[in-house]
Amino acid sequence: MTQDELKQLVGQAAADYVNANVAQGEVIGVGTGSTANCFIDALAATKQRYRGAVSSSLATTARLQAHGFNVLDLNEIETLPVYVDGADEIDYRGAMIKGGGGALTREKIVASVATVFVCIADISKRVEVLGQFPLPLEVVPMARTAIGRQVLALGGVPVVRVKPDGSPFLTDNGNEIIDVKGLRIYDPRALEAQINAWPGVVTVGLFAQRGANLCLLGSDTGVKRVDYAG
Ligand code: 5RP
Repeated sequence: MTQDELKQLVGQAAADYVNANVAQGEVIGVGTGSTANCFIDALAATKQRYRGAVSSSLATTARLQAHGFNVLDLNEIETLPVYVDGADEIDYRGAMIKGGGGALTREKIVASVATVFVCIADISKRVEVLGQFPLPLEVVPMARTAIGRQVLALGGVPVVRVKPDGSPFLTDNGNEIIDVKGLRIYDPRALEAQINAWPGVVTVGLFAQRGANLCLLGSDTGVKRVDYAG
């Protein structure tokens, strides 16, 4: 199967999971990216079961609305039974690198409110040690260089994300992204706490303190559910 076919497979599996485990009338948290898009497309068939969805990016909001979902502000929501999102890497304990699409801050906020985080990924995203995929940091632009020095001191290589025309990539929140290359992340929780403490860091793309509760992993043999102890 191609990677796109695997993404469709896990997107459908996530829609089946949500339909089977979330009560009618609830609100669903929805992530960002090509795998999350497959989930949105699959869930559209049963959208009338849900009061609406909370979105993690402008792109996801547009896709949800195109399917006729009611997109709600997180501030209107008291509980969110489930958050479904992709990942750039996921380890054997459910810790992830996210933010390849630049939506890490809103993703982390919505995930923090959800009872269950369902990661959807093709098997290529599963790793022994996080860090092969560059670790995204969303940063306030005036702190870019200072944070770059912190990254170098940590042993990483900071690369400011740019658009195809060479101008800085800006997040939905108007901030920049530094992609950190060259890390081998053996203790993701500790590194998440360490980087969070740097002034000017809005969000680090490590989702370890609040990792996935379960992952629906797609491979040529089908979709495997992996549960994490937390
Ligand atoms: C966006 C993300 C995505 O979940 C991550 O980049 C995976 O994307 P895709 O499903 O397209 O491979 O964190 O900020």
